[in-house]
Order: sequence, then C-alpha cells, then structure tokens
Amino acid sequence: MKEYDFVVIGSGIAGLSFALKAATHGSVAVITKRKGADTNTAWAQGGIACVTSDEDSFELHVRDTIEAGAGLCDEAIVRRIVTEGPERIRDLIELGLHFDEREVSGHRELDLGKEGGHSKRRVLHVRDVTGKEIEETLLHEIGRRPQVELLENHMAVDLITAAKLGFAVEDRCLGVYVLDEKTGEIETLRSDRIVLATGGCGKVYLYTSNPDIATGDGVAMAWRVGAQIVNMEFIQFHPTCLFHAQAKSFLISEAVRGEGGILRNSRGEDFMKRYDTRGSLAPRDIVARAIDAEIKRSGAKCVFLDITHKAPEFIRERFPHIYETCLRFGIDMSKQPIPVVPAAHYQCGGIKTDANGATSLRGLYAIGEVACTGLHGANRLASNSLLEGLVMAHRAATACLRSPVGSKQEIPLPKWKSGNVQDVDELVVIYHNWDEIRRLMWDYVGIVRTDKRLQRASARLRNLQREIGEFYWNFKVSVDLLELRNLVTAAALIVDSALSRKESRGLHFTLDYPKTDDRQFSRETVLSRG
Ligand code: SIN
Repeated sequence: MKEYDFVVIGSGIAGLSFALKAATHGSVAVITKRKGADTNTAWAQGGIACVTSDEDSFELHVRDTIEAGAGLCDEAIVRRIVTEGPERIRDLIELGLHFDEREVSGHRELDLGKEGGHSKRRVLHVRDVTGKEIEETLLHEIGRRPQVELLENHMAVDLITAAKLGFAVEDRCLGVYVLDEKTGEIETLRSDRIVLATGGCGKVYLYTSNPDIATGDGVAMAWRVGAQIVNMEFIQFHPTCLFHAQAKSFLISEAVRGEGGILRNSRGEDFMKRYDTRGSLAPRDIVARAIDAEIKRSGAKCVFLDITHKAPEFIRERFPHIYETCLRFGIDMSKQPIPVVPAAHYQCGGIKTDANGATSLRGLYAIGEVACTGLHGANRLASNSLLEGLVMAHRAATACLRSPVGSKQEIPLPKWKSGNVQDVDELVVIYHNWDEIRRLMWDYVGIVRTDKRLQRASARLRNLQREIGEFYWNFKVSVDLLELRNLVTAAALIVDSALSRKESRGLHFTLDYPKTDDRQFSRETVLSRG
C-alpha cells in the first residue's frame, strides 16, 4: 500500500493545477489513465473566458453566464469564479504561458476572442490550441516537482470509504484502488484527501468532440460511494464538429463563428437568422437545436460553416490547427465552407460540490468538468470551463489544507481481492455493449428528447448494467471493462435525470414538455444512491 497526503485522479487543467498547489504542502499522486496529456483540456481550442479588458466588466460576464444557464446558475458561485479568474490567469502566465496578443496603437494587449452568448470579447487564447499549450505548461511544471508522482497508465477502480469497510459512524473517503495497466495489478493508495478531476462523459454518445478518455469515470465512482450527483440531463452538444467519415471527433471551434463564420444550410442560406436574432453566434443550445431541425427537415447529412469571406492569411494564422486538419481531409476552409454536425461536448452537471470543491462525502473533492458547482446551470457559457477548472483547483487546494485530516492509521485498508476471476474470454462482448450504449444514447437521449425515447433508453440501460455488472464480478478487471462499467453508469444517470425533468430548459429539450416550468423545476435535479 502507498500513502500520500493528496491523491488526484485526472491530469487536465483542474487536476494538475490542484497538484501544483498541494505539492507545496505534502506528497501528491496524480493518477491518469493514459499519458499525462491525454485529457479533455488538451483538446480545448477556444480558450479561457476571463474579464481582462477595460471594455468588459465582471458584471457583464456574470450576466452572460447566468443568461446562458437558463435559471439554474448559482449566482454566488458565478460571481466567485468570474471575479477570481484574473488572479488565476496570472498564475498561468507566471508559469510561462503566453496568450496571444495584438498590437493596438503602438502597444501590445491580449487578443481576445468572442464566442456564443458573450456580450464582449473576453476569451484568452493561444491561436486555436489553447488547451494543448496549457496542458504542456502544467505538465512541464509538474515534472519539476519531486513531491508529485505522475502515475500514467493507471486507472482508478473504486474509492475506498469508511462505510464500505463497515465503519459507518461517519462516512469518509480513505483511499482508492488503482489498476496499473502495465502489470495488471491493483494497488491500494491511501489518502485522506482524494480529488476527482476526471473530466466528463462525452463517450457515452456515438458522436462526440471528446477524446477517448471521457468515459464518466469520476461521476460513476462518486455515485458508487453515495455522493450526490446533480443535473446530469444537461449535456451540451457542440454545434460544429467536422462532418467527415475519417475525422473522428474533430471540433471546429466556436471561435470561428466568433470571427465571423456563418452557418449555412445545403441551399447556402444563413438559416440561424430564422431561429435567433444573434444568428450563428447564439448560445450553443439554440444553435445545436437549430442545426438538428435543419438537418431533420431537409434530410441533409450536415450543415456548413462558412468563413471564406475572411482573408486566407488571417484564417491560417488565427486557426492553424483547424486549417491544417481540414486540409488533411481535403477541405480548404479559406476557399470552401466546412461541413459540420453537432456532437456531445460537455457535461454541465456532475458531482455536487460546494464553493471549495468539497462533495457530500468527507475527504472527497471534485473539480473541473466532473463537478457541478452551479456555475453552468442548464447550459454552459462557452470557454467558462477552463476558467472554472483553474479557479476551483485553487479553491479546493486552499480548503483541503485548512480542513482537519483524519488519523491515517485509524482504519486499516484491505488489499484488493481478485477472487477466482478469469481473463475476459470474449472481448467482442465488451465492444458490443460499448457500441450499444453510445448508439442508444445518441438515438434516444440526444438534442431533442421525448419521454417514450427516454423510457426505452432506461429499460435497455438497466439490462446492460446487469450484464456489465456480471462481467465485472466474474472477470479480471481491465481498462476496457472498467470504462464500460463507468460508461453505463453515467448513461443511466443522464437518463434518470432527464426523465425526472418534465419541462424544457437550457440543454434539456423534450417534445412532451416544450415549455420551461419555473414553478416546479427551477431547481437542480439531485440523484443520490439509497
Ligand atoms: C470551442 O472552441 O468551440 C470550445 C470552447 C468550449 O467548449 O468552451
């Protein structure tokens, strides 16, 4: 058994920022399923929304966030995160991150991008590879801290709690079982402060902008130990992912629309004007639903994002990654519109936390996409998530250091028991189940929902949960099996939450209840085991 002052699960912006701060106070293990940089953060293109210009104000950023959130944001949290943002941005700059700048009347200032729902330009970015630059900066810094052990190719299996071990007087988190993928062994890590920073669950859907690691691990683990999970029905679909048979998950940043890109249907019409006065830069829920409606109405396979009216040099310089990637698929975005479709992008709900990232289980913290602080409400404002990860990492680290630690020797942690299990004999079963979940979620729990489709999804997921549970107990655990088990749990949480919200609000739109019902539903959807 290994023992650490802090165990962080996940190596994106939230996990690494937390680890850097905690490292000045003790030993830290950062557990990550693949390589350190295999995170959602590294894929973020748009940037970080933060008030830095004289033309902007905290008040406006708060207002835009709350307006996008469709009545479910926690205003106190929104204010905290927005106002603490600039300080946390300075931390990143001090670590060596260079945000793009531009020349204005003889001096340099930050080049701010614009995205849907923002009333001002406020998105700090590094061309269109902001997340990759942030990830590299943080990983470089982590490498210089001997107190931090980065455990790559390690996957958390389950949290260890006092209740699970039969000490139920006051439940708390004591450690975590972790699979070392290289050896196939399960290690026991003890810590009184476990931080879930595992990102979201985009992979529950057939089409997603997320990398393969986004399998809802943190939410599923927290659910299994009884932590509160909220607002899982609010899955954000990004309106513009590249539509191309070989282009798996490639996002076309909203910043392209921020710089004037126009969505057109197959007849070349600027159709968004019919749906919202803000046109192509309306908030994402509106744009994604409009594209869905256009596609369904016309029978076309996609719509098009047109930025050909901009100078080719501007496009190549501002969006080098998107430009090069499209070109590899035979699309020159400076000359032709990009075919795009919506895809699952962001989990706005998650593990319920307070303003310091503490969950309902003592010793367990959650930060970043896996958590639900109340910032996003029913629909996240673009580029608010990196900001949230950064600010909440700082707040959680500060709170962790203040909170008393339980006596480490009090409760002995048992070693993992494998029992009489064998290797999975037919991997095809895992892949089949995986595929079935993603397809049914896409078909029945997508951008437009109905009770009937949700109930169908629910019934199928219950069967799958039973079957996957049997695999889990009878076969040797592997990353594939663990991910599948988490995926089906995350999918079921989304469906259960969606079924309980009998109205349409933000990202949750159902044909059975197309109106918002503030009298009954202007509250979080809370799920809790038992
Ligand atoms: C984008 O670049 O469009 C994604 C930004 C975000 O999801 O916040």
